[in-house]
Amino acid sequence: MMSQMLSVLLTLLVLLTCAGVGAGEDGVDMQPAIFADDVGNLFVDTKRAQGRVFVNGVDVQVLDERMRALEATAAALTAAQGIQRAWNPNLTVAETASIGAGFNEVVNGIVADSIANVVCVCGETSNNLFAVLSGLVDAYVACFNADDATLKWGVQFGSSQYDRAFGVAMDPVARTVYVFGHSNGGVFVPEPHGLADLVLAAFHRDTGKQLWGVQFGSANTELAQAMVFDEVSRSLFIGGYHMGSLFEAQASAWEGYVARVDSSTGNVTWGKHVQTNRNDYVHAVAVDSRVGLVFAAGTTEGDLSGDNSGSKDVFVDARHVANGDSAWTTQLGSAEKEEDVSLAASTDLGLVFVVFSTQGELYAPNADGAGDVAVVALHSTNGSVAWNTQLGATAADEAGGVAYDASTTTVVITGATLGAMFADQQHHGGMDLFVARLDARTGEVLWGGLYGTEDDDSGRAIAASARVPFREQAAVFVAGETEGALFGLPTAGGVDAFLAILRPDSW
Ligand SMILES: *[C@@H]1O[C@H](CO)[C@@H](O)[C@H](O)[C@H]1NC(C)=O
Ligand SMILES: *[C@@H]1O[C@H](CO)[C@@H](O)[C@H](O)[C@H]1NC(C)=O
Ligand SMILES: *[C@@H]1O[C@H](CO)[C@@H](O)[C@H](O)[C@H]1NC(C)=O
Repeated sequence: MMSQMLSVLLTLLVLLTCAGVGAGEDGVDMQPAIFADDVGNLFVDTKRAQGRVFVNGVDVQVLDERMRALEATAAALTAAQGIQRAWNPNLTVAETASIGAGFNEVVNGIVADSIANVVCVCGETSNNLFAVLSGLVDAYVACFNADDATLKWGVQFGSSQYDRAFGVAMDPVARTVYVFGHSNGGVFVPEPHGLADLVLAAFHRDTGKQLWGVQFGSANTELAQAMVFDEVSRSLFIGGYHMGSLFEAQASAWEGYVARVDSSTGNVTWGKHVQTNRNDYVHAVAVDSRVGLVFAAGTTEGDLSGDNSGSKDVFVDARHVANGDSAWTTQLGSAEKEEDVSLAASTDLGLVFVVFSTQGELYAPNADGAGDVAVVALHSTNGSVAWNTQLGATAADEAGGVAYDASTTTVVITGATLGAMFADQQHHGGMDLFVARLDARTGEVLWGGLYGTEDDDSGRAIAASARVPFREQAAVFVAGETEGALFGLPTAGGVDAFLAILRPDSW
């Protein structure tokens, strides 16, 4: 462990020393060109470095963050190799925060960074949450301290119409938080291009200061669903569904799309439609920089890869980061409906995890015929199924979100259930929030927890942060909605959003 970490750190030092440190030759503030992935591989962005490796030499904190990132990734590597069953998979709610100002706040996305110790959520509000409401519904993004769940900053933005945020992503090196959503009005342009446009904005991670914002779309309807940041290509990948000729000619009614966006300008590098002759929807995106693929997952009524099994099926569509060319497509489904799709990738295992609700008997008998939650791991290079599982109570269960936890080689999922989803856990009434931890190599459920009030409570989004050795703070972050006083939090009325920080009972 020590020698492994030392060699990683030495490699970095050698790179830094040989490469020189400073701003670009033209005086432009270059982004650091060395990156580490979640298992300690170092990448040098040769395009940005242009034959040399620049790091913001004047900015010691960036160097420090990269060093700490390497320590964290070395720890994750050790964890992945060594502690398979020696640790306690159980999680305990440690800190919580309420996000509410009045009637109805919603959470749609979450992102966490263990090095910066920040977790951010995005969604929508119909109140004066962080500013005076500009229209009917405003988008918001809020960033919290990942230790104690105190609010660092929150920004609310919108037009005079409906504005919603669905995807939030973070660039740890540029210290930028990106928010992706859609609007019926003009947020960054005087008038929308169509009935609904896509809206993308960048904010400083530590202050919430807006850096840039763009709005684009066809003359018809574009809807946002998800976004992810890729440290290697330094790009954002956005996904959603639309009606219109946005990136390519329209072929049917609703079509999914996935696009690569330059993270420093908001300009689209490439955009592709995911389409059959029926309705298709992209709901989630993930990226694996090691294999250079971006994944879009959603539902289709058509035949995207093989014949539709009935009603809506789930698909995962893999494309090359470089140009958007298709790599593979996998379609999964029962004779009944599949929906509520979310996605996460693990570069160290070479797997993509797709989680969704199914009303059918896809991988297990579905006693109640209501929703169950399916979790499927696909090989990231070819889309073939590595393992699958279906879990649920004898009452309706809904999938919410999925994340990969590199520190423990587990998949964490959240959602909502009407029943006692885990045998040892009591159901509280209405829909309850559930969180579960699965072995990422096998799909075995290692732990599950139910939380709730007598009213409806649900998990919508989940993120995991690595265990940083000098802070010992592995955590799972869950965001969702509650109609009651979930975790004893104050209620502001109607549906409130919440953030919960869960930590391992012990290591
Ligand atoms: C984890 O929690 C379950 C109950 O959910 C309990 O039976 C088990 O003993 C706990 N495991 C550890 C290692 O504490
Ligand atoms: C981004 O797009 C804008 C508007 O189309 C254009 O003026 C600008 O040059 C582009 N920037 C880059 C870096 O391509
Ligand atoms: C897909 O890739 C995995 C991992 O490399 C491999 O084990 C599996 O055999 C491949 N499946 C197919 C159908 O090629």
